[in-house]
Amino acid sequence: MEKENAIQKKVIFSGIQPSGQLTIGNYLGALKNWVKLQDEYECFYCIVDMHAITVKQEPKELRQRTLEVLAIYIAAGIDPEKNTLFIQSHVPQHAEGAWLLNCNTYMGELSRMTQFKDKSQRYGQNINVGLFDYPVLMASDILIYQADLVPVGHDQKQHLELTRDIAERFNSAYSPTFKVPDPYIAKVGAKIMDLQEPTKKMSKSSDNPNSYILMMDPPEVIRKKISRAVTDSIGVVNYTDDQPGIKNLIDILSTIKGTTSEEVVKTYEGIGYAQFKKDVGEAIVEELAPVQDKVKELVADKKYLESVYKAGAEKASYIANKTVRKMKKKIGFIQQ
Ligand code: TYM
Repeated sequence: MEKENAIQKKVIFSGIQPSGQLTIGNYLGALKNWVKLQDEYECFYCIVDMHAITVKQEPKELRQRTLEVLAIYIAAGIDPEKNTLFIQSHVPQHAEGAWLLNCNTYMGELSRMTQFKDKSQRYGQNINVGLFDYPVLMASDILIYQADLVPVGHDQKQHLELTRDIAERFNSAYSPTFKVPDPYIAKVGAKIMDLQEPTKKMSKSSDNPNSYILMMDPPEVIRKKISRAVTDSIGVVNYTDDQPGIKNLIDILSTIKGTTSEEVVKTYEGIGYAQFKKDVGEAIVEELAPVQDKVKELVADKKYLESVYKAGAEKASYIANKTVRKMKKKIGFIQQ
């Protein structure tokens, strides 16, 4: 009975790249929502190591980070018993699906992707084919699980739109094969901004460590980075685009506390930036401290992590294989 229920639940797929240490942007924009969705949906949460290698990775660090990201998923509250947690490269259907979808995707579509444009500017020495093809692998990730919903931050919206276009195109070329997934982008927290340049997204690839807070930053570092966050000379805690630094700190605080921006503004009426920043720093420390402790415990238990990702890959492969077989059959490949 339990199994039947699980099959009827709507499906979620999402992933994070182990390409650097995770920031509170990843946490507030994605992970925190995943935790909320896990009871209602059948969730596949993946560590997308194949996406990570579209920019150069040190092999030893990639291995460490992949396990650390898995530990972070679990420590943040994603229950490995209820959800399928796995590593992308352990399920070869992701790459296979991507090839099949490649042949249904246009160069023009991929060259319009803003993430590709940004990254090819940033990594000008290494504009590899994988970087260009990245969104098709992402489409494959999602479509081979017949996902209904994809919880992501705002920056992934364009990739989700492309995924929908590819799915619809395949469905109309060969007959319905894929669910056309919807993005799930939270109202607050979906775009946490850079602390030094608050008109830019907070990113783990920034060169200035003061511009982001890492999930594993120690409390004193978190406090210091928040106290140094760029604000303005207006001196009033207001939620407006004219005060992007303060707006971002309000977003961070309200996402952590589960309150609205209006409530935060009201609380800080007549209170200066110093106290406000102090409280934001403290809220982040309080939110992350238990997660950090658990991560440290989990990364020391390699056997346990291995048991989680192995079981995850087995379950994921089973589902992914069903869709990939269907795709191949419809395309006209001889069935094995
Ligand atoms: P990645 O690894 O860059 O980021 C992981 C998740 O964190 C969100 N995020 C943010 N949210 C709010 N504010 C920020 N500053 C911020 N920075 C990052 C991202 O939107 C994302 O949800 N392409 C994806 C990984 C991926 C994927 C997938 C996601 C590969 N295949 C299939 C969903 C479904 C990426 O680069 O995420």
